[in-house]
Amino acid sequence: MSIAQTIHGSWASRWVFIFAATGSAVGLGNIWKFPYIVGLHGGGAFVLLYLGCILTVGVPLMMAEVLIGRRARLSPVNAVAALARESGRNERWQIAGGMGVLAGVLIFSFYSVVAGWVLEYVLASSRGELIDIGHVQASERFNSLLADPRTMFGWHSLFVLVVMSILAAGVVQGLERATRLIMPALFALLVVLLGYSATSGYFGQAWNFLFSFETRQLSWEGALAALGHAFFTLSLGMGAIMVYGSYMPKNASISGAVLTVAALDTVVALVASLIIYPIVFSTGVDPAVGPGLMFITLPVAFDHMPGGQVIGLLFFGLVALAAITSAISLMEPAVAFLVEHLEIGRIQSCALLGAAVWLLGTVALGSFNVLSGIELFDRNIYNLLDYVTANILLPLGGILVALFVGWQVKRSALRSELAISNSVLFKVWYLLIRFVAPVAIGVVFLQNLKA
Ligand code: PHE
Repeated sequence: MSIAQTIHGSWASRWVFIFAATGSAVGLGNIWKFPYIVGLHGGGAFVLLYLGCILTVGVPLMMAEVLIGRRARLSPVNAVAALARESGRNERWQIAGGMGVLAGVLIFSFYSVVAGWVLEYVLASSRGELIDIGHVQASERFNSLLADPRTMFGWHSLFVLVVMSILAAGVVQGLERATRLIMPALFALLVVLLGYSATSGYFGQAWNFLFSFETRQLSWEGALAALGHAFFTLSLGMGAIMVYGSYMPKNASISGAVLTVAALDTVVALVASLIIYPIVFSTGVDPAVGPGLMFITLPVAFDHMPGGQVIGLLFFGLVALAAITSAISLMEPAVAFLVEHLEIGRIQSCALLGAAVWLLGTVALGSFNVLSGIELFDRNIYNLLDYVTANILLPLGGILVALFVGWQVKRSALRSELAISNSVLFKVWYLLIRFVAPVAIGVVFLQNLKA
């Protein structure tokens, strides 16, 4: 069957979409951020809130985003406008797409800084610098990296260059090829590492930490963080999944693909935690150490396991690869937008955007050292970027998409694009996207603004 092309290109099959979207979803959010925010928010209670958010808000919204993209086959800003036109609605809803382009650029700027730390650890493990490292030295090592703007700048620059080059190569030659190479390797390594941690003495303790809780641990703050993270980890609220949906073959089932992506993403986050927490408990580290968790505990663990040096190198290498596949999806909405609006080529668009995020990321990395004194709203620049995107822009983008799809787009268009033959399932989704998602996001969001 012939597939309508976008000007940007199309994925070869439904599976390429699934892998590309999983590549977008699985990233630093799963392997680095999820384990440490679980620690900060007390464990099992947070995991439960998070799973609830994924199921009731994340999955329905992801379906909505893919649906918009695939129906219009345009970059998010134009896709929303095209669907509004089709349903006879106001084209201004395209602001939902516009905010996403901005959010992607802002997230990229600090994502690249953390990816840079990962690259530094790839080099350090390949040189054997993490051998015989104790917990104290591991902390010192991480802190001295944060205090060194030059090294961080070098890695951040390299990461921007790599990601922008893949983007410049195009949807099929760049994005699809990177996905096909990286994803299988990532899954294989997670299985190996899980095997190691399952046989360590602290697996049971880690399991309890993640899956049991007391009701008094549930909090608004935890709920907001869980919702913000559900958006972040599924790459929602900013057009990444929407733009990937616009390259999806017309005959593929949206609901099946989305459920697969969400399930894979959740499994990776839980597995990453089951890999990291036994190590955390065996070294006696406080689970609430924050962002340094992966960089401090894992090197110590690798040092204690047979063949640990090689595994450590592979682990950080693959985290870097996971970060790359996510980062390309952060920028793709902006790249497609520039190509459609400025009518400049993909390569020029990538060069322009690359320069912008490179500059912004350079400022963000200063938050850990030379610019640490600069604070806005009680936050340094890095934390501000993280907070504004995860807690404000992504939820807001999500509400707009839910309201747009739930209340503006014609029901007949939704039915034909989703092609869910079971009408009960369609009704459940429609209910979630019209009422549950906007209300849940709205309540948690407002509660946070009050706090
Ligand atoms: N989902 C990615 C992660 O978990 C981050 C991301 C957010 C990517 C938004 C694209 C869009 O690391």
